[in-house]
This record gives sequence, structure tokens and C-alpha cells, in this order.
Amino acid sequence: MNQKHRPLIVGNWKMNPATVSAAKTLFADTGKALGRKKYDVDIVAAPPFPFISDMQRLPAHKQIKLAAQDVFSEPAGSYTGEVSLSMLKSVGVTYTINGHSERRKLGETDEDVYKDVQASIKSGVVTLVCVGEKKRDSNGNYFNIVEQQIHSAVRDIPKSKLKRLVIAYEPVWAIGTGMIPTAEDILEMKLFIQKVLSDHFGRPASNTVRILYGGSVNKKNAEEILSQGGVDGFLIGGASLRGKEFADIVKIASNV
Ligand code: PGA
Repeated sequence: MNQKHRPLIVGNWKMNPATVSAAKTLFADTGKALGRKKYDVDIVAAPPFPFISDMQRLPAHKQIKLAAQDVFSEPAGSYTGEVSLSMLKSVGVTYTINGHSERRKLGETDEDVYKDVQASIKSGVVTLVCVGEKKRDSNGNYFNIVEQQIHSAVRDIPKSKLKRLVIAYEPVWAIGTGMIPTAEDILEMKLFIQKVLSDHFGRPASNTVRILYGGSVNKKNAEEILSQGGVDGFLIGGASLRGKEFADIVKIASNV
């Protein structure tokens, strides 16, 4: 039997909004829409780097944890333009996103993702690894792609640290397009990912890994994907920029 996990809902703001004051408004509005109620859901937002420390000081941070959209694996030194895990942790980051397809598109390799994941896990943050095919072909090659991405990224994580690992299945063709796989396709991929993890780490340890879906999630499709797709939560782009809709998705997750 697979254990049931506490749902995890992560909003990936990407390179939005344009100013720190707009970011504060979005974070506060999301908090307001969530209200005071305690949900049995881990709620996370990933603002752009320059805004993170401001978010940490807002009351909504009590409900909404902070993620970094990317990390750099080295601890310090001559790496112009990069941001380290200790910097991120010092401004309240407790989650990282690794290997998002938009980073991979800009040149991040599987080896880079591997190093970022290693550094994230070591630093103690919850580490989301994004995997997903660019397109679906009729002979199921997308399973091989996802398997290879997972193996490459997680291969050296000690079993004892697997509780910190989250896999986000994000088919690239579904990101920002309004197209989503069917709930059956999502369930099939979720079971496949569980098998890849259990082949690698063994059953009890791999059962602690949460598996999310990402790609055109909104408040209309969230319930079906959670209940029939069997995933443990979402990585949400566009809809996370609308505080009320993001909060609605959290509420749906707390009821499924
Ligand atoms: P989307 O983005 O929800 O806008 O499709 C998801 C993501 O890129 O994580």
C-alpha cells in the first residue's frame, strides 16, 4: 500500500511580477484569500530572488513557505550572477525547485541538475526535481525520458534523506499552454515514477517521496487531477499569480 501524503501546493511565480510592491501585494492577497484557517496542506510560493526576503517579513509567511526557483550548487566564491543555498536559507527559503524545464531550455544540463539536487538535499531544504517530456509520441518514449531524468538527478541521494525529495512531473507541452494530459495519463506516469524510485531506493524509503503534477493547473481542473490522477499536489505557474485562485486550489487540495 502506498502511504497517503500531506498535499504540497507550490506556486512558481517565474519572472513575475515586475516590482517588489506588486510581489508584496500578490503574497498578501494570497494570504488573505487563504484566511486564518489551518489547512492540512504544505503551501509554498517561489518568488523571484530579489523579492524573497520581503515576503519573509509579511504576515502571510506564517501560512506560505518560501521556495527558490533555482539554486547554484557551490557554497561561495567567484560565480558571478549565481545564488547559493546559504544565501537563500538566510532569507527564509525552505524549498528549492531544481531542473525546471525553463532552466533546462536555457542550457541547464542533467549534470547541473544533479549537482543542484545534491547541494539542496545536503543543505536540508525540501528539494523539488522537475522532470517531463517535451512531447508525447505514440510509442511511449516519454517514459524513458522521465526515467532517465529521475535517475540522473536523484542517483546519489542517501535513502535517509528521501523525505526531503519531491518529484514534479511537468510535461513541457502542458506548461502554460492550457493543454493537460488526461487524469489517467497522469496516474499512469505517477505510478511509473513510483516504480522508478522503488527500483532505485527500495519500497519503504521511496514511498516517502511526494509526486506532484505541473502544467496548466487551475481551479477548474485541480480536483480531477488530484482525485483521479493520484498526485500529491501541484507545481503551479500562471494560476499562482492570481492569489484567490491559488488559494482556491489549496482549499481543493485540503478537501480531496
Ligand atoms: P503553468 O506552469 O501552471 O503556467 O503551466 C507550470 C510550471 O511551469 O511550473
